Amino acid sequence: MNRIVIVGSQWGDEGKGKITDYLASKADVVVRYQGGNNAGHTVQIKEKKYFLHLLPSGVLRPNVVNILANGMVINPLAFKEELENINKNAVIFVSNRAHIVLPIEIFLDGSNESRKTNKIGTTNRGIGPTYEMKASRIGLRVVDFIDPKEFKNYLDRLYDLKGEEFLKLGFLTSKEDLYKELLPYAHYLKPFVTDSSLLLNKLIQENKKVLFEGAQGVMLCLDHGTYPYVTSSSPTAASVPLNTGIAPWLVEGSIGVCKAYTTRVGNGPFPSEILSELASIIREKGHEYGVTTKRPRRIGWLDTVALRYAKNVSGLSYLAITLLDVLSGLKEIKVVKSYTLKGVEIDYVPASLNDFQMCKPNYIVMNGWQENIENVRSFKELPIEAQDYLKLIEKLSKTPIAIFSVGPAREQTITLKDIFND
Ligand code: GDP
Ligand code: IMO
Ligand code: MG
Repeated sequence: MNRIVIVGSQWGDEGKGKITDYLASKADVVVRYQGGNNAGHTVQIKEKKYFLHLLPSGVLRPNVVNILANGMVINPLAFKEELENINKNAVIFVSNRAHIVLPIEIFLDGSNESRKTNKIGTTNRGIGPTYEMKASRIGLRVVDFIDPKEFKNYLDRLYDLKGEEFLKLGFLTSKEDLYKELLPYAHYLKPFVTDSSLLLNKLIQENKKVLFEGAQGVMLCLDHGTYPYVTSSSPTAASVPLNTGIAPWLVEGSIGVCKAYTTRVGNGPFPSEILSELASIIREKGHEYGVTTKRPRRIGWLDTVALRYAKNVSGLSYLAITLLDVLSGLKEIKVVKSYTLKGVEIDYVPASLNDFQMCKPNYIVMNGWQENIENVRSFKELPIEAQDYLKLIEKLSKTPIAIFSVGPAREQTITLKDIFND
């Protein structure tokens, strides 16, 4: 496989950044295809942690071409800040068809949430309102943002249409001030902008190895996730062609990144959530706090009903199991094998939120292991209970494990299957 999607198979924060950076050592190109700086991807090199929100996780590998594709929504202030903080020498291209997140949309994100009774708990980065503007055909594309005349015309049109509404809601910045504030960022962005679909198709023709890095996770997908407690784009492997401008059949496979347990940030149903003291033990051990918003993550057992669902709706060729080390020291480990809904055992994720909220998980209980596994470098070195746990995940998810990881660093990643040579 030369072109592989790295997709979050749960509710986000599965370790996509780490796995992308790891596989990027053998890749030529890394493409972010959806979302914006709602994402928070961690890459650890030795003791140093890098937190990426907009930039693809190939930026810390020299010679990798990094592309922010058309499906993304880009906050130009965040782009500048991140590039300057992380790696000014990275090779970066930004799609001329991606959409720009303006301060208006960030304001609307907060304003919408404050008026909702069923708050989603968004990251407040303006992501939802920017995709709304895109779908309403009143969004601002990169190509127009970097042309001062087009940008000004855009603001004129937007304020004609929505100015009064913004004012009523409390957004007081004039279009003139907004223009002045953002123009330097348009100039900053301009040299990075290209037709990324043309570029990507050319790189593919040259037989380059490409990783498509998803943000969020399948259960947060706008179409297939726990709607309305979802993000506003599709993190699935299926969304890659549309969001990057390549033919669907050019995507050759995907690797679903999956924690050895489950976490969720923000509101919404979570059948396997642990509500006892054990949740804080796992949270502290796994440093389970949001990279973007610093919120404590909710903790639960691995849910293989949700994982099988993710495999169906997204397509997962392989799994990468992360944070296995965090489960060391537990007496027993539970895995969801099915749900019971209104007295009936089911093996699917109900579309109705009420039904999903009523689902009671049925668990398989495994023996835990007590050994510290952070220095394990092969499957054989794992305690037998950890081996059994990985085998069970493969069996229940019906998906082979290509990678497992026993710590945040690059060298704590163990390859079971070289997927580029599959
Ligand atoms: P992403 O959004 O999917 O890229 O994941 P995040 O970066 O938000 O969260 C994953 C967290 O787990 C980060 O702090 C990583 O450094 C850390 N991490 C990744 N893999 C492992 C692992 O195998 N063990 C441990 N202990 N931490 C890991
Ligand atoms: P990465 O890429 C975990 C969640 C938010 C909220 C919902 C909608 O690091 O895995 P949004 O701001 O997107 O409108 O929020 O989605 N969310 C994430 N949760 N990881 C993420 O990204 C997330 N990005 C958004 O908490 O529940
Ligand atoms: Mg994250």
